[in-house]
Amino acid sequence: MTRTLGPARADRFATLLPTPRSVTPAEGEFVVGYRARVVGGGDAARVLVDHLRNAGGVRIVDDPDAPAITFHDDAGLAPEGYRMRVRDGGVDVWAADPRGAHWAVQTLLQLLPDEVFGPGPMEPESLRAPACDVEDAPAMGWRGSHVDVARHFLPIADLHRHLEVMAMHKLNVLHLHLTDDQGWRVPIARYPRLTEVGAWRPGTVPGHQPPPDENDCDDVDIHDEVPHGGHYTVSELRGLVEHAGRLGIDVVPEIDMPGHMEAAIAAYPELGCTEVRHPRTCFGISEHVLALTESTLDFCRTVLDEVMAIFPRVPIHVGGDECPSREWFADERTLATMREHGLTTGAEAQAWFEDVICRHVLERGRRVIAWDEVLEGGVPEEVIVMAWREHEVIGRAARAGHDVIAAPGAFTYFDHAQYDEGEPLAIGTGLTLERVAGFSDVLDALAPAERERVLGGQFQLWSEYVHSWARAEHLLWPRGCSMAQQCWAGTADGAHTVDELVPHLRRLTARGVRWCRPREEA
Ligand code: ACM
Repeated sequence: MTRTLGPARADRFATLLPTPRSVTPAEGEFVVGYRARVVGGGDAARVLVDHLRNAGGVRIVDDPDAPAITFHDDAGLAPEGYRMRVRDGGVDVWAADPRGAHWAVQTLLQLLPDEVFGPGPMEPESLRAPACDVEDAPAMGWRGSHVDVARHFLPIADLHRHLEVMAMHKLNVLHLHLTDDQGWRVPIARYPRLTEVGAWRPGTVPGHQPPPDENDCDDVDIHDEVPHGGHYTVSELRGLVEHAGRLGIDVVPEIDMPGHMEAAIAAYPELGCTEVRHPRTCFGISEHVLALTESTLDFCRTVLDEVMAIFPRVPIHVGGDECPSREWFADERTLATMREHGLTTGAEAQAWFEDVICRHVLERGRRVIAWDEVLEGGVPEEVIVMAWREHEVIGRAARAGHDVIAAPGAFTYFDHAQYDEGEPLAIGTGLTLERVAGFSDVLDALAPAERERVLGGQFQLWSEYVHSWARAEHLLWPRGCSMAQQCWAGTADGAHTVDELVPHLRRLTARGVRWCRPREEA
């Protein structure tokens, strides 16, 4: 039986996500067909070719008579911006930089049938895009997805898979939380025990824990006795960085310090104020933090230098969150450091540490990022503050002279389930798509001078209750679609409900993404 293939449907324009700045429909359609020519475009063109070949079986030829997709430079366009002209005779893309070309490709793919995002096979004749002119550029330069690979180790293949889905949404930063109390995931040549010892814990305390107000529970003996851990190799991480780069994405590493360091202290007890037996088996905020000494600073500097070599050019995140100072006042070596530098409070001591560490990264020509707790004692003005607690912190960080990445927990902590009922165990519930849409309202409420300091936004996936990538995808999507829309288009329009997102979610289904289906109302 022969299938009749209808013309490309002009209502594809309404399905584009994130929404381009302007789309002007024109007459006709571009048919890719069995053979196509791709001219210029570098990595972006290769992404396009991969989809056309893999899903559509298209042969890429050098024949001037074949339908052509042609990439051009236009230095006059905004960073990451692009123009695209789709006509019967061919597609032309103009971009000022490689990322602009990438995002044009993603828009072109979205104009084609959803199956182009899947494994195929497709009828090449079905690869049709409605004619149009697109002009587009992002509202925000930082459009991030954070993944915690420390609480639960997530295999590298899952991160590669995530990069591809991020690119579909024009997200441009993968923030990897590589170290925490429960596990250390990045090899450091000078400190091999970080991965030999710090990457493995003997078990995990089951259920939702720790109980509220018992953050420093050391009840490691009631864990499930299932060893958990793993780490990436340097070459795997380099491969991830390369793959990300080929998709227009940066991978930003985080080494969380001086708190959240129990795994490192388990590997090298001299780093800590008290001994710990092994990486932490429960969650919550640990009191077991780095001692403040010259030798722990040396350790941190060495780790950061090795990390900077694995992740070239990008900003480096140095953590700085949730660092209780109680142990510092009981540790003779830390007290000596505090006396030497005239530090009397925990906030002053942490500020001293942050100053040394942040300047070390800055002196190597990198930008440095820290969680917003660092505002309490102060950090150099050049530090980018990642604002996660109450959303007023965004304005406070901006007024203190910092660039800010908005990651307000109430809207962007996707470790909280989307629904109150019927979900697997999560750290909390009720972070609905409608609520995620409130992220834009938070930014809109800023004074213009504060808003100017906001580089962009990102959504976080902490992994206390995330053991597999299937679970991760369930938490990430469709809420990640909403954040992508808000960071690119500057508005949550079209992303308030699953119903609004359904035409786009078909692409995720084609890609095999296990996005969270709506629950029936109870
Ligand atoms: C954080 O959620 N502790 C940054």
